[in-house]
Amino acid sequence: MAVAPPERSPRLAPSARPEVESLQAYSAPLEGRRELLRLDFNENTLGPSPKVVEAIRAIPADHYAIYPEYDGLRQAVVAGLGSSGQRLDPSQIGLFNGVDAALHAIFHAFGRPGDRLLTTTPTFGYYAPCARMQGMAIEAIPYRLPCFSFPLEEIHSALIAAGDQGPPAAPRLLLICNPNNPTGTRLAPARLLELAEAAPHTLVVVDELYEAFSGDSVLPLLEERAAAGEWPDSFSRHPNLLVLRSLSKTAGLAGLRIGFAIGHRTVVDRLARVGGPYDVNSFAVRAAIAALGDQAYVEAYVEAVIEAKEWLSGAMARAGVRHHVDGGNYLLIWPATPVLEMDQRLREAGILVRSMAGKPLIDGSMRVSIGTRDQMERFWEAFQAIEAGLTP
Ligand SMILES: Cc1ncc(COP(=O)(O)O)c(C=O)c1O
Repeated sequence: MAVAPPERSPRLAPSARPEVESLQAYSAPLEGRRELLRLDFNENTLGPSPKVVEAIRAIPADHYAIYPEYDGLRQAVVAGLGSSGQRLDPSQIGLFNGVDAALHAIFHAFGRPGDRLLTTTPTFGYYAPCARMQGMAIEAIPYRLPCFSFPLEEIHSALIAAGDQGPPAAPRLLLICNPNNPTGTRLAPARLLELAEAAPHTLVVVDELYEAFSGDSVLPLLEERAAAGEWPDSFSRHPNLLVLRSLSKTAGLAGLRIGFAIGHRTVVDRLARVGGPYDVNSFAVRAAIAALGDQAYVEAYVEAVIEAKEWLSGAMARAGVRHHVDGGNYLLIWPATPVLEMDQRLREAGILVRSMAGKPLIDGSMRVSIGTRDQMERFWEAFQAIEAGLTP
């Protein structure tokens, strides 16, 4: 019998779902950043509380061999919310490997092929790939120029518009980043509740990653209304509302990956069904409990950022630099130098910022995260030198 010649050409790997085949991996330029001044990802520029470091160091090595235990973490999240957590039960807190993983779970649990995601543009870049992964249609309503104000009427109309094929016409998901990354746009919590009430069949997700810098959270209002109406818990009248919080930005735990979804216990349970049993690791659990127990550290950092933000926007206004500043620990700047060149020159000076080149409405700008006053002075000096044609 003749022996078949060895095959020379490589075989094809199996195809994934069509939605995945047409997707590009969401990748952010995250390598080689450690020694630089990182104003590109809105992280805490100082790092976590010393109590977090102590808590992590105290984990005995034999605990590395054991699957994580989550006892006490949900309670710590509720306690960390202070008076706005009074009517929240720990079962209303979903634990995730960062809010990115919470977003992934939301789309995985709720988004069917052909369903609609209603959101705004420009906004956080991970919503769209999550929707595409599920084969969802994306309707992204632009912020209103010239001040990037929230397109409330347009969102409201799109939320209640009847579809061509009759019900169910409501979008499956409405995702609002409040304050919005990268425009800083803020929407009053009362308006958010109205949107949720207008569309009871839509899951309204409020991404509150940056609420600490301007106090825009919907949670205090939910608590207040629940107390006034003697409702059993904050979400009993708004079961279609879900709030996302993270310890990445304010608490300085971005590298440990820990985020929360806070909502009606049924919704939180559905999200848990699509996650793995141990997605959040033991280090993140310990660090989160310590961080949530040291609110004073976070408050002091937030205060320093707000002060530095005011200083920088004042300096830019006096110098006539075009910029836009609102909520969040970041602002947008339109340099006179082409933005990609500015980005590169700042990098050479040891400072990272995020170019917004090509993004709708904000093309030509860069997003600059706010750190401490010293850090912002360093940025401002380098920025001005580059604009003046000098080497910083
Ligand atoms: C608006 C927004 N949501 C979610 C995330 C992801 O947060 P986490 O680090 O908790 O995954 C980010 C991170 O940049 C963000 O800006």
